[in-house]
Amino acid sequence: MSTHSTVVSRSQQLKAATHSTHDSLDKRVMAADIFASRDSFTRFLRVQYRFHRDIDALYSHHGLLALIPDLAERRRLARIALDLQDLGSGIPTGSTPAVDANIALPDALGWLYVAEGSNLGGAVLFKLARDRLQLHADFGARHLAAHADGAAQHWRSFTAALDAAPLAAAQEASVVEGARTAFQTVRSHVETELHADPVAVT
Ligand code: HEM
Repeated sequence: MSTHSTVVSRSQQLKAATHSTHDSLDKRVMAADIFASRDSFTRFLRVQYRFHRDIDALYSHHGLLALIPDLAERRRLARIALDLQDLGSGIPTGSTPAVDANIALPDALGWLYVAEGSNLGGAVLFKLARDRLQLHADFGARHLAAHADGAAQHWRSFTAALDAAPLAAAQEASVVEGARTAFQTVRSHVETELHADPVAVT
């Protein structure tokens, strides 16, 4: 008789726990036809800006900095702002960011998982922006450009750190909760920015 034990990593658990939410978000974003024109893509950039403004405090979070050595260079807010500037859009007017500096580490890891995962999936979006809108790493699609190590390797180095973070068993649910809340937040920004009717994007 043989025994099998399957160890599911934290990142795999997060993927499974948020799979249907991601799927629905992905369909919603693509249904908005964000690659139809640069104006449409600008609305997607505004979603990204709103989300990354929400999470900006994560990139100076002491607990995360101790776990993820290259955390600061994973921050994409400034690149999204440049993409918006390239395409002639202003910055979306502000609201209080959803995340503040005191966020607990397990929740912070869940939020960061969503931001980093969107960067992995962003490789697909980068190719579409390049092929359909002639945007690139120095104009309009800076924040979607792959890391010099390659998007997959950059993702693996993040999930390795995420999976190695020492947490108590009781904290695992908070990581998932952080990721779910992050996805809900992105979704709410999508509903704000990606409506069917053309709008001014100033
Ligand atoms: C801005 C909203 C989005 C967020 C927050 C987001 C989030 C994520 C997350 C967390 C992952 C990692 C899943 C894992 O654990 O492996 C991921 C992967 C992925 N996403 Fe998204 N995503 C977004 C939009 C999209 C859109 C619009 C597409 C449309 C093509 C997309 C396509 C993908 C793909 C293809 C992957 C997997 C990449 C791979 O395994 O190589 N995502 N995304």
